[in-house]
Amino acid sequence: MPSYVFLETFGCQMNDSDSKRLLSFLKNINYIRTDSPEKADLIILNTCTIREKAEHKVYSALGKFKPLKYGSQHIIIAVAGCVAQQAGEALLKKVPYLDLVIGTHNIHLIEQLLKRVSEKKERISATGFFSEMNEAEYTVASHAEGARALVSIMRGCDNFCSYCVVPFTRGREASRNPDDILFEITALAKKGVIEVTLVGQNVNSFGRGTPNSFAGLLKSVLGIDGIERVRFVTSHPKDISRELIALFAGEGKLCAHIHLPVQSGSDAVLKRMKRGYTRQEYLDKIGLLRDARPDIAITTDIITGFPGETDADFDDTMRLIEEVRFDNNFSFMYSPRPGTVAASLEAQLPLEVKSQRLDVVQQRQREITEEINLSLVGRHTQVLIEGPGKLQSFEYTGKTSCGRVLKIILPFDMTGKLVDVEIIEAYRNSLRGELSQRTSVCC
Ligand code: SAH
Ligand code: SF4
Ligand code: F3S
Repeated sequence: MPSYVFLETFGCQMNDSDSKRLLSFLKNINYIRTDSPEKADLIILNTCTIREKAEHKVYSALGKFKPLKYGSQHIIIAVAGCVAQQAGEALLKKVPYLDLVIGTHNIHLIEQLLKRVSEKKERISATGFFSEMNEAEYTVASHAEGARALVSIMRGCDNFCSYCVVPFTRGREASRNPDDILFEITALAKKGVIEVTLVGQNVNSFGRGTPNSFAGLLKSVLGIDGIERVRFVTSHPKDISRELIALFAGEGKLCAHIHLPVQSGSDAVLKRMKRGYTRQEYLDKIGLLRDARPDIAITTDIITGFPGETDADFDDTMRLIEEVRFDNNFSFMYSPRPGTVAASLEAQLPLEVKSQRLDVVQQRQREITEEINLSLVGRHTQVLIEGPGKLQSFEYTGKTSCGRVLKIILPFDMTGKLVDVEIIEAYRNSLRGELSQRTSVCC
């Protein structure tokens, strides 16, 4: 008899990839995923603590499961991810109906942890950090479902940007062995995967301190038979190399998109954030990327209302947005995180200022995104179909090389296939296309 697992994921690409690994390990012990918590034997929340709001979401989601636990004692409730890592034992104390806390380096131990919970009725917090990279944590190609897969290439972060909890929740940066990564992707390709996304908090520093580099790894991944598209996330502007930028010029399989978080357009703020680059250095890298691949889509993250951010600093950010014309940006109000340097800086700004600046950024970005989308009408491109759309029958959605969502009516289900399309309409957040005879991988 199979058991059922309900899994909800919050946060970033690292948590997405950890959730896929969790599901793979659970599949080996006969768990099937369910969308219904009522049906589940195991409920896992894979959590994020990057901002206060993200953390609150976790506690309110957990609250919903309390009646289930008290209604049926056999259900196991677990919290994984960054809240688990930070709160550990305290989370077990705070949430009496919680059975298991799984830290970010402990995902691969899920089977033995569940055994202890169900057989010995223990309540466990497993939040140890392992400094050595252990391949048993990773080589699980069974997570492939369909044509796309996320592959974790490293863990942790050593940058300690002054606002950020990630170095505390994910530990020190460590890279996997390139041979193991290539072995995993080759296995995925044999299972029908054609698009891989390489994930890490700072992929550009992959292999730091060894002869390996991210550009070198990427070149090898692009050479794997059956892999048609390669993406990666996230890049740190200070570490992006000329060798990597050059790959955008020559490699059609490398998707025409880079997510390059800038955070602020003001040098003074960037310095207090400890980002390690100036506004001009960032702009120079954008110039090199666009020289290499003129149609590259560039997206970014911006924080508004960092401590001490003046009106002039904020104007610098708005000028940068005008100058770069990002294809999209993910912007957030600064949220003080316990234990970070920025949380104890004086000159914390009032919520109204942070929120008003956020509105200005988001409003302007919506306009720019829509203008860029409209300019794409009439272009020919290639889309990887991800599945049926929600609105009309025969409608499917997919993504262009540059990461835009495209909707299309298809004569039959082409999920998992790369199809040639012409863009016929553009909206704020998506495009509409129709099948085309012309092959092109632009945008
Ligand atoms: N490794 C990536 C970012 C990971 S966190 C990088 O260095 O760019 C994702 C985004 O969350 C960050 O880019 C930042 O914009 C935002 N973020 C992180 N900490 C934050 C905080 N304390 N308040 C508001 N936004 C934050
Ligand atoms: Fe956080 Fe900075 Fe590391 Fe990104 S690079 S995860 S923002 S500390
Ligand atoms: Fe959130 Fe942890 Fe990612 S704090 S953004 S899930 S690394």
